[in-house]
Amino acid sequence: MGKLNIVGGGAIGSLIAASAQKNGVPYDCYPRDMKTMPSCAHWQNGQTTALKPAKPSPIVLPKSDVLIFPLKVYQLKAALMQWLPYLTQQPTVVLLHNGMGGLEVARDLLGGDYPLLLATTSHGALKVSTSNGFHVKYTGVGATQIGAPNVNKPSPQTLTDLSQIVPQLASAIATLDNALPPVQYQSNILKALWTKLSVNAVINPLTALHNIQNKHIAKPEFEQSRIAICDEFTQVANAYGLDFDALSVHENVLSVAKATGENYSSMHQDVAHGRQTEIDAINGYIVDMATKKGIPVPENTLLVERVKALKL
Ligand code: PAF
Repeated sequence: MGKLNIVGGGAIGSLIAASAQKNGVPYDCYPRDMKTMPSCAHWQNGQTTALKPAKPSPIVLPKSDVLIFPLKVYQLKAALMQWLPYLTQQPTVVLLHNGMGGLEVARDLLGGDYPLLLATTSHGALKVSTSNGFHVKYTGVGATQIGAPNVNKPSPQTLTDLSQIVPQLASAIATLDNALPPVQYQSNILKALWTKLSVNAVINPLTALHNIQNKHIAKPEFEQSRIAICDEFTQVANAYGLDFDALSVHENVLSVAKATGENYSSMHQDVAHGRQTEIDAINGYIVDMATKKGIPVPENTLLVERVKALKL
């Protein structure tokens, strides 16, 4: 089994590293900024795990290695370009981010045949600054959905099917599952990503604009906006051949808002800390995809404008 290489020192990347450390999976971290890389993880049962020292710069990785990019979509292009000269052996690249657009960036830079996995996770993690430097806190047990968008259609239905067609990708999924389980193979990863997009498209801008926890977006005062976002999302997704119905999309959004009710969404946190938001990769992506098909999406367009107008 290959080594797990983690790019960036964000909350989810550090959580994966800490879990790899705890589960005895070989790993290395490559943060952009060594000073803000967490040195330690705090689990929900009160235990802690110390992380091994991070690596300062990329190295050529063997094909059996896994290189995961748990970054914001807007950071992905620069990070992939930095790694490009070191990918001569074609280790498996894994993209893990909120929102959409990463696949297009990766296909542009790596080509459409590169061994690539796309993933989305519902694990929660928070990076905190302490008197002893940065730490990462595990805030919510979740699961990771993963799939192989570059494998020819029809996509392999099960992990066993995938392991027969592209053993390298199946073994990369096993490495990730050993590090931070559960990692669940999805034959239709794009549908899983669009599902997550619908959740983010409602919860993230509403929580950021109104300075509220996730649970509050279920209040009647946001009903009109929730329904409009879900209706527009469904029209756009279905125009690209995905099979959604607006009512179920809305129900799923409400159930995630309830399940993560006490959390502040990632966009809320970005705004609260004065960081760039992922609005372009979330509601902005819906607007871009809608524009290409001539579908009017006024609610999503307004949300993009309003989030961008927030003072950061
Ligand atoms: O971006 C986030 O915060 C999360 O994806 C979600 C699901 C909205 C929960 O907070």
